[in-house]
Amino acid sequence: MLFNLGLLTALLAVASASPLTPTSESSLARRNEDITRLGSVGKLLSGGTKFGDLVFVSGQVPTLNNTIVPGGIRNETALCIQKVGDVLKEAGTDWSRVLKVTVLMQDINDFALMNEVYSSMIPDPKPARSAFEVGNLPVALVVLFV
Ligand SMILES: *[C@@H]1O[C@H](CO)[C@@H](O)[C@H](O)[C@H]1NC(C)=O
Ligand SMILES: *[C@@H]1O[C@H](CO)[C@@H](O)[C@H](O)[C@H]1NC(C)=O
Repeated sequence: MLFNLGLLTALLAVASASPLTPTSESSLARRNEDITRLGSVGKLLSGGTKFGDLVFVSGQVPTLNNTIVPGGIRNETALCIQKVGDVLKEAGTDWSRVLKVTVLMQDINDFALMNEVYSSMIPDPKPARSAFEVGNLPVALVVLFV
């Protein structure tokens, strides 16, 4: 099936009380054990990862039980934003802490409709954002928070 599918990727950096500083190799190895996997953890990817106060959210597609949500780009955008929000919540944060969003869309002509939903769901002030039409990709909303 080819569809208007949304893909949302988020990567988030929340201001850290204890900034990561260059460390010795052994201390990096120890820190690797402190990576938390978020969302559903599969063979290919995790829904997100958390390391200290940094959160990275994988691209999210507008599917429920492997079925694209009905209703077109608006509903797809809403679901992607919601799914990223779920990962953020699990990490102990939320959309208000997002620094960068990347939106990938199958058809850039959906830009205005995507923006309608985006502007109403993402809290102000908005994070930085880039948006692209990407060929042969399910419509995508990629959110990168840094
Ligand atoms: C997805 O599957 C779960 C478990 O089978 C079910 O509880 C849920 O209602 C389903 N959601 C949708 C949107 O179909
Ligand atoms: C799209 O989402 C809205 C709001 O949740 C819902 O009322 C509507 O039924 C959805 N559209 C379709 C075709 O499912």
